[in-house]
Amino acid sequence: MNGVLDQKIVKYFIDTCHQSWLKGWNERNGGNMSYRMKPEEAEAVKPFLSEDGVWRPITLTLPNLSNEYFIVTGSGKYYKNVLREPENNICIIRVDEKGENYKIVWGLAEGGVPTSELPTHLLNHSIKKEKTDGAYRVIMHAHPANTVALTFLLSLDDKTFTKAIWEMITECPIVFPAGIGVVPWMVCGSADIAVATGEKIKKYDAVVWSHHGIFCCGPDFDTAFGLMDTIEKAAEILIKVMSCGGKRQSISKEQILALSEPYHVDIDAAMFDD
Ligand code: 13P
Ligand code: ZN
Repeated sequence: MNGVLDQKIVKYFIDTCHQSWLKGWNERNGGNMSYRMKPEEAEAVKPFLSEDGVWRPITLTLPNLSNEYFIVTGSGKYYKNVLREPENNICIIRVDEKGENYKIVWGLAEGGVPTSELPTHLLNHSIKKEKTDGAYRVIMHAHPANTVALTFLLSLDDKTFTKAIWEMITECPIVFPAGIGVVPWMVCGSADIAVATGEKIKKYDAVVWSHHGIFCCGPDFDTAFGLMDTIEKAAEILIKVMSCGGKRQSISKEQILALSEPYHVDIDAAMFDD
């Protein structure tokens, strides 16, 4: 019989945390990640879970997450340590029947609670689950340096950020044709940041948290991670361009929009409206 840590999906979660750490996106305990398990994945781990834990309030009511199982990073835990000691740094939680409380059913063996951003993760899982007919399962938040640096340099609105980032790599508009959302500075872990991010996530798969980090989602680990990686790479190029005295030429609006047809994506032309 295989234990929790032998399950392919748990290994993928751990590996993705480690890849994020190697990218330099997770200083100290910075960042957090959650995965909504498929029914068959939850079934496979059930023999190894404990129902002895206490119910804790999510602080939101999310009925469409009723009885869902999530793999989640622990609050205050370092991404650096996830690969070496997964059972002490991540956990599996179960949401109750009403979608109001959660319980740790595995992990955080030396104590702890799920990420302080749990309300934001769960609210946004709930929204994306509904919007994508259950396809989206991964949410990751991290602190990639160049993306954060841009929040000190660009106007903090969706259009400014989207156009600036799209322009830096030809494939950006193909990878995120809807664009990127931006929320102003807010207290991390708060209900306010959960709700503000939730409003943006209805439209986008990536939301920049000003002077803090980025929040990305997708159907699987590779897509969500790839999105964060693409945005951060484009942000790095923009920082380099700005550091070298600014653009001398670039890709035009018409060239960006010309990518829609051959790549079968719907690049949002309204981003170029005044
Ligand atoms: P946690 O350690 O609670 O996940 O917090 C890290 C973080 O990045 C908060 O935004
Ligand atoms: Zn953070």
